[in-house]
Amino acid sequence: MLKLIKNLSQLFIGKPKITSDHMENETISLIMKRRSCRSFTGEEIDAESINTILEAGRFSPSTVNLQTWSFITYSKNEWKEFFGHSIPFKGAYAIVICADMFKIKDLFPDFKETPYINNSFAIFNAGLASMNMTLAAEALGLRSVMLSETGRTGLLDMKTLKEKLKLPKHVLPITTLVIGKPGITFPGIPPRQPRNTVVMKKGYDLNAGSNLKEWFKQMLVGYKVTHPLSTLDSQIEFYRKKMSEAEKEVRKVFDPDIKKN
Ligand SMILES: Cc1cc2nc3c(=O)[nH]c(=O)nc-3n(C[C@H](O)[C@H](O)[C@H](O)COP(=O)(O)O)c2cc1C
Repeated sequence: MLKLIKNLSQLFIGKPKITSDHMENETISLIMKRRSCRSFTGEEIDAESINTILEAGRFSPSTVNLQTWSFITYSKNEWKEFFGHSIPFKGAYAIVICADMFKIKDLFPDFKETPYINNSFAIFNAGLASMNMTLAAEALGLRSVMLSETGRTGLLDMKTLKEKLKLPKHVLPITTLVIGKPGITFPGIPPRQPRNTVVMKKGYDLNAGSNLKEWFKQMLVGYKVTHPLSTLDSQIEFYRKKMSEAEKEVRKVFDPDIKKN
């Protein structure tokens, strides 16, 4: 019982360890206070804000400035019409963020010799664009969540998205960024891995994994609090099934073009 309380308390006390001076800095505070939001009011977002968020994505950094991403956008009505249901969590706007090697494949025909590197960079770059858009949304007083599986929205539903969005080969739907005005939100912070298991001095710490047991317990407690009606086992089973289906699709993108010697 004492352990349960201790683990639960981490959701509320496991805050970033930085000086109050730095916490007052507008940008640092924005980064630290950002949380994934899973309850929106459904209220529309103004066109200027959407434009700024998309521009924040377009102006993200990328390897060799190749900008290996595409953003497929939906207002809530467009989403409903297209997918037949509302944006998850009553979001107002959704952006499917894709890692996209398709657009540039003819500019660099030799790229097909190195699909693992190209796709790894493309995925990384798409992640950077997602984060830039997330932070832009926060700065404009909006909230967001990136989705990889909730409501058939991301990499774990690649097969469905590929068919529905007519994605060509070499385009991976990494995540859907759902944006909106926040509804009622849970105040806690999902527990972070202890600093000494993340920040490693002068070489890799092979013991980092074995020091993560306590953190994992905190995650499980957090899960039970935030998902009172579902069991972790059923969730993991659901996840595994989706993951093995998605794995087949992702392999098709990573594997296809290498000439076998
Ligand atoms: C690529 C990506 C995909 C995610 N997919 C989902 C998802 O499908 N459903 C969900 O509820 N949260 C999803 N999340 C949110 C994470 O669960 C969340 O970032 C994590 O628990 C940390 O919480 P925080 O963002 O509030 O700090 C995703 C996050 C990322 C970066």
